[in-house]
Amino acid sequence: HLGLFAPQTLVGKRVIVTAGGTRERLDPVRFLTNDSSGKMGYAVAAAAQQAGATVTLITAPTKLTPPAGVTVVPIQSTTDLAQAVLAAFPKADALIMAAAVADFQPEVTADQKIKKTADNDEFILKLKKTPDILKQVAAIKQPGQVTVGFAAETQNLLANGQKKLQSKSLDLLAANDVSRADIGFNGDDNQVTFIMPDGVTDQTPKTSKVVIARALVDRVAQLFAEK
Ligand code: CTP
Ligand code: CA
Repeated sequence: HLGLFAPQTLVGKRVIVTAGGTRERLDPVRFLTNDSSGKMGYAVAAAAQQAGATVTLITAPTKLTPPAGVTVVPIQSTTDLAQAVLAAFPKADALIMAAAVADFQPEVTADQKIKKTADNDEFILKLKKTPDILKQVAAIKQPGQVTVGFAAETQNLLANGQKKLQSKSLDLLAANDVSRADIGFNGDDNQVTFIMPDGVTDQTPKTSKVVIARALVDRVAQLFAEK
């Protein structure tokens, strides 16, 4: 078993990992979501567990099987995710937000299936902003706690990444260029640039999400050592 060979750098640490793309319901049979497969978050949960952490995986629906031994909290919407994260965070040592969170949700969710009508040739959907979970977490974050974000960017990766790191009070941001078809959202591989609060950046090679997850977990362990 792989875990036996992983350095036990997170023993005694409680780590929350979020994964997958949130679903925002329009009605009982329809929702808005995104291309996230959940693979990156599940790989991070597995890596943290192999490093000895007690892991809670808060996950939107995916096609994946959660790693054995992690506590799974299934969620659907951004509102569900916010509730689950805010409930678990006070007792956690680290939060790693790999979930692809919807930025907007339908202003109203219909109780019944929305019907097309003979006199309407268009349907206007009104969306409102979702809560920024990492910003809410920043407001309750204690000095010993580590928070990590992922950033999906199609341009100005470093500048946008630095801004996100600061605005969400993160200890680490893994930024990836989602304009590239060969990495990111759905595949098995990724390439991220780790951005640190001191402005230092470090780009990984293009490699498997499993290897990137281990690199991220190593950095989280290093952050605990420094705190
Ligand atoms: N995130 C969050 N709450 C939201 C949206 C995003 O906590 N409502 C988290 C994501 O899980 C990720 C980080 O914030 O770890 C960055 O997400 P990203 O979508 O790249 O950034 P946004 O702040 O949503 O900004 P934008 O999409 O406009 O670039
Ligand atoms: Ca976003």
